Amino acid sequence: MKLRHATLTGWGLYVPERVVTNDDFARMIDTSDEWIRARSGIRERRFVADDETTATLSTAAARAALAKAGLEAADLDLIIVATSSPDYPTPPVSSQVQHALGARCGAFQQTVGCAGFLYGLITAQQFIATGVCDTVLVVGAELISRWLNFEDRATCVLFGDGAGAVVLQASDEAGVGVQGFVLGSDGSGAEHIIVPSGGVARPPTQETLEDGLNFIHMNGREVFKFATRILVESLQEALDEAGLTMDDIDLFIPHQANARIIEYAAKKAELPMEKVVMNVDRYGNTSAASIPLALAEVLDAGRARPGDTLALVAFGAGLTWAACIFRLGQNVPVGAESAIAAETAA
Ligand code: UT7
Repeated sequence: MKLRHATLTGWGLYVPERVVTNDDFARMIDTSDEWIRARSGIRERRFVADDETTATLSTAAARAALAKAGLEAADLDLIIVATSSPDYPTPPVSSQVQHALGARCGAFQQTVGCAGFLYGLITAQQFIATGVCDTVLVVGAELISRWLNFEDRATCVLFGDGAGAVVLQASDEAGVGVQGFVLGSDGSGAEHIIVPSGGVARPPTQETLEDGLNFIHMNGREVFKFATRILVESLQEALDEAGLTMDDIDLFIPHQANARIIEYAAKKAELPMEKVVMNVDRYGNTSAASIPLALAEVLDAGRARPGDTLALVAFGAGLTWAACIFRLGQNVPVGAESAIAAETAA
């Protein structure tokens, strides 16, 4: 079977209006702007308004991505929404997004922690490569703020809410899209990032609520060790798959969990910081939304250019990881002009 190429034709992001600074946290809990910046690189993050949910965040980002691609919802053959924080345990948020957009295609949600968006991107590429779909929307969206325990200062200062989305389309252009990828999982580290109650293993009771088990729990030190190792290892594996080297990377877009993790990985991989994308200072860790948010920003800013080779790498709950070498097409409409077009359409 002849496999087809899948090229990026649209992207969009949505972040809530409300900015929560480190000083806002310092007024609530025993922490400081200095500690948070030194340990994580985060200065501020966005938290949703009361009437926002993961479905509304996803839909806003999806609309922007469709507008950028010059497509209608009716053009979509498949919708994938990656999130760990869906509106409900069931139904899947992907169907709310499909309905809100007015699309008539299949839609599914996948939960793979912070690696969820890249798992979604790879899945979308498979559907296009095999000829099953021509046009696929992939959303990464999270609303973690309602899962934060504001008595757990080591975790609550790190996360933020937001959504990013991309449109992938079949293309005749040679050498575009996914060049190589790696998907990984190690369930032995499950307890390191977990919301212990809310699923069927521990349904919520008065006791689980009193113990705060409905909030996200993270063993920061363990995740830090895992993250610094897996970022570089999986990046190298994906490059090997693609038959490329570190020198071929134009932009490295890692999961935005912690500036120290990213800087460490860049140094180990000998990637100059000009090639490294970081926005964790402004959004914190937005889990499955972090890579599409960063990707949309560099495309809007014209920092990513047609023909560029992007290295996307994520890690998180599961534990899981994913790395993908992705080449932009020659016609990708980067830069301010396309950003203005999307704003007008939104
Ligand atoms: O997308 C999911 C992936 N998640 C991650 O990548 C998270 C990975 N881990 C991390 O980013 C880091 O481990 C953290 C930022 C979570 C923590 O940084 P750390 O350098 O590992 O700090 P630590 O946990 O070793 O804590 C150092 C000290 C402790 O005090 P003692 O025991 O040394 O007296 C903490 O109690 O810092 C204290 N601390 C705080 N102090 C002020 C913890 N949180 C805070 C806080 N403000 N918010």
